[in-house]
Amino acid sequence: MTLNQDFLDRLKIVECHDSTYRPEKSPLVFSKAKGSLIWDVDGKEYIDLCAGFGALALGHASEALLEVTKGFSADRPMVEHAMGDVYPSEEKILFLETLKSLLPSKYEIGALALGGGQAVEIALKTAMLYTKKSGFIVFDDAYHGLDLGVLPLTAREDFSGPFKNWLIDGHVERLPYGAGNDQLLSAIKKLSHCGLAAIVAEPIQGRAGVRPPPKGWLSMLADVAHAAGGLLILDEVFTGFGRLGKISTAEDVDADISAFGKAIGGGFPMSACFAKKNIMAAWPESSGEAIHTGTFFGHPFSAAVGRRTLIQIKNQNLMVRSLDLGDKVKGWLCAAIGHHPLVKDIRGQGLMIGVEFAKPGLAAKLMDDLREKGVVALPSGNTGATLSITPALNIPEDLLKQGIERLAQCL
Ligand SMILES: Cc1ncc(COP(=O)(O)O)c(C=O)c1O
Repeated sequence: MTLNQDFLDRLKIVECHDSTYRPEKSPLVFSKAKGSLIWDVDGKEYIDLCAGFGALALGHASEALLEVTKGFSADRPMVEHAMGDVYPSEEKILFLETLKSLLPSKYEIGALALGGGQAVEIALKTAMLYTKKSGFIVFDDAYHGLDLGVLPLTAREDFSGPFKNWLIDGHVERLPYGAGNDQLLSAIKKLSHCGLAAIVAEPIQGRAGVRPPPKGWLSMLADVAHAAGGLLILDEVFTGFGRLGKISTAEDVDADISAFGKAIGGGFPMSACFAKKNIMAAWPESSGEAIHTGTFFGHPFSAAVGRRTLIQIKNQNLMVRSLDLGDKVKGWLCAAIGHHPLVKDIRGQGLMIGVEFAKPGLAAKLMDDLREKGVVALPSGNTGATLSITPALNIPEDLLKQGIERLAQCL
């Protein structure tokens, strides 16, 4: 038996069986990782085309992380925990300032949490406080996290079905991604009992299978939301900070609130909701007890690694690299597998690329075959028909090319 299998068998004994995927063949248990390479507990090497679900903008064991850990010494011990909403750490403040300096100037004020779903929750609460309404329009196949507050917004029935009886009803209208003006107006009408607080959209639907919206659609959503007295929330958890070739889609779209996660913590738990100043002002002033907080929100270690990660993304111009390299990858994919009868579409923007296959489940099967060939990539979409490629923004070009070549061999 391999060490990978042995570890997975041990995991099965101590972890809820819904928590971790257990493949039938070529199991993988991470042991160490550097840049865009991972080694399993048996010493096998893998090319990482996932970057921790898109969270590792600079890859594993990045310079940002090393800089932070090297900075600690007996004279300057690490602050493991600064009581976030009571006594802030300096790192939390520096991190928020850095985020703000990179975001569009309209986003002046933010609030921190740990995960993407939590950042979306802050966005929802902010929209409700500001508009004093509680209806939301969301889209087919959307993914906004699995916390109970955002679960009604996430589309997939298999995630929300078992908890349906408990979830709020009548406050969420779901439309096709790309829905037109008339559909939006009729959804707003259906929400008239509670009013439209916000339309919530991903700039490109990531987990739905890398699905870009029609051109100009996000701006149209902003116009429709504003005309109805509501807001536009962009869920930029997956797409923000370089993956699509820019820091934020709110640079081009009149969004009011954005949620960020994944990349901003440099691989450590961190997320943020930023909004226009007058909108964030809807939160009551803390009188010693914040009404939305968490024990680890704005964690100083994540903030320290995250801040250096953000600075590297900007200084190394990884936004532009993401766009250019993404175009090259689509070119390589088209040349290598574009002609294959099972390849339906190759799409995406920057380093968020999807290969959709004509057969449901094929990407899920390829994920297993790729692991055997030493590549880590994930399927996406409701039917597991799309293979997602979301590597670190600084992945070496030759490594990425090797990964694509192995994908072509597997197919
Ligand atoms: C667009 C989007 N929003 C929210 C989330 C949830 O983030 P987290 O898993 O960190 O809660 C994800 C996760 O993949 C995401 O892709």
